[in-house]
Amino acid sequence: MSDMQLTGAKEHLFNADVRQQIDSWVAKYPAGQSQSAVIPSLHIVQVANDGWLSQSVMDALANYLSIPAISVYEVASFYTMFDLKPVGSHKVNVCTNISCMLNGSEEMVSHLEKRLGVKLGETTQDGRFTLKEVECLGACCGAPMMQLDRDYHEHLTTEKIDQILDGIK
Ligand code: FES
Repeated sequence: MSDMQLTGAKEHLFNADVRQQIDSWVAKYPAGQSQSAVIPSLHIVQVANDGWLSQSVMDALANYLSIPAISVYEVASFYTMFDLKPVGSHKVNVCTNISCMLNGSEEMVSHLEKRLGVKLGETTQDGRFTLKEVECLGACCGAPMMQLDRDYHEHLTTEKIDQILDGIK
């Protein structure tokens, strides 16, 4: 990919390191199939953009991959692992799907909302935490569970949640 292809509003995100990471994913697929690299590429640019995807970032990625912008939007808006508005420094994704629900996720959500002082989908005033409700994260045997940034925390209790949040610097 050439620098000439970077005509979006967020060119600065596409530094050499980001380009190299995206290019390594594109290279895993046959020529002309860069669409297949959309999910890992979205992860890469989301990290580079403080944890969320603005429209200009998605447009720039579509441009970089030479695919229609809609092909990026539809993936980014489908998966809860992508955020389309600014987020806090830490993402707390609490699962409320069936196994977690049957094992107390409602109480965990209430505790998290009270402890953080926000509702689901909101970010704390100090910008430290964004609390989100997500679908099954594939850790049903550890229900109820939540994901804090990249780490899974299972068999949650309110005390365990406090310990986990207290441990965040
Ligand atoms: S239902 Fe919560 S991880 Fe599967």
